[in-house]
Amino acid sequence: MRSSSSSWPKTSVASLSPDKAPDRIAGMFDAIAPRYDLLNHLLSAGIDRRWRKRAIASLGLTGRETLIDVCTGTADVALEATGAARIVGVDFAGAMLALGLKKVRAADRTKGIVLVRGDAMRIPARDRVADAATVAFGIRNVQRPEVACAEMARVLRPGGRLAILEFGVPRIPGVSAIYLWYFRHVLPLVGRLISGHTGAYTYLPASVGTFPPPAEFMTLLRQAGFAEVRAVPLTFGVVYLYTAVKAQSGAGRSSTTVSYCK
Ligand SMILES: C[S@@+](CC[C@H](N)C(=O)[O-])C[C@H]1O[C@@H](n2cnc3c(N)ncnc32)[C@H](O)[C@@H]1O
Repeated sequence: MRSSSSSWPKTSVASLSPDKAPDRIAGMFDAIAPRYDLLNHLLSAGIDRRWRKRAIASLGLTGRETLIDVCTGTADVALEATGAARIVGVDFAGAMLALGLKKVRAADRTKGIVLVRGDAMRIPARDRVADAATVAFGIRNVQRPEVACAEMARVLRPGGRLAILEFGVPRIPGVSAIYLWYFRHVLPLVGRLISGHTGAYTYLPASVGTFPPPAEFMTLLRQAGFAEVRAVPLTFGVVYLYTAVKAQSGAGRSSTTVSYCK
């Protein structure tokens, strides 16, 4: 998907939409799986854990909910969501899921967390089965994010809550310049050296640069059937937390809010 909005400085990160064919994306994540967690924590200086905690907190879990974590990867969101009764993590990269399963076993959470191989564009779950859904750093990788969002609306009960974390591009001039330098030069180099994969950490800035800007992604969420759609920039807008509620009926019609407070 390409953005049509001129307000997102995506050309300064990357301008060509990368190939997101499911086989290619699954293969890439399978290849970097052994170093994925290490690189995540290293490249974000450990802040990624805080971002996931913030997303989970936005769901207001009470201990009774069924949560579906789409693009679950190595299950970090599932493991963080201690307030849900049942968690189903869905991902199409078998090597990521295998590492996730090891972590779930090590944390003695096999009763509450199930990991399933599947595509975000065809979530293997019944309609209205979930009270909450999450995606952390996955939606930008999905070939057709609008289909994945419609799928999350389908599996959520009316009133069910959604939290999506995705990278953004900071708008504050000084911060933006440092971030772009880091994203263009440091991240691909460190990623390549540690993962041994030549393309994955070049793909990352390219996929962020071509992901829809917040206002556009919020419209997509409303069209998928969500209401009360909000986007909150975290860490100067390096990441956005999108929250929404599955509309009671039909497509979401409420107005969207971009809140530029931290
Ligand atoms: C950047 S990782 C994020 C993993 C995890 N959510 C986290 O917070 O670390 C993106 C994950 O999305 C998965 N993914 C991408 N597109 C997908 C799709 N269409 N269906 C299922 N999984 C997908 C990849 O296999 C990968 O594990």
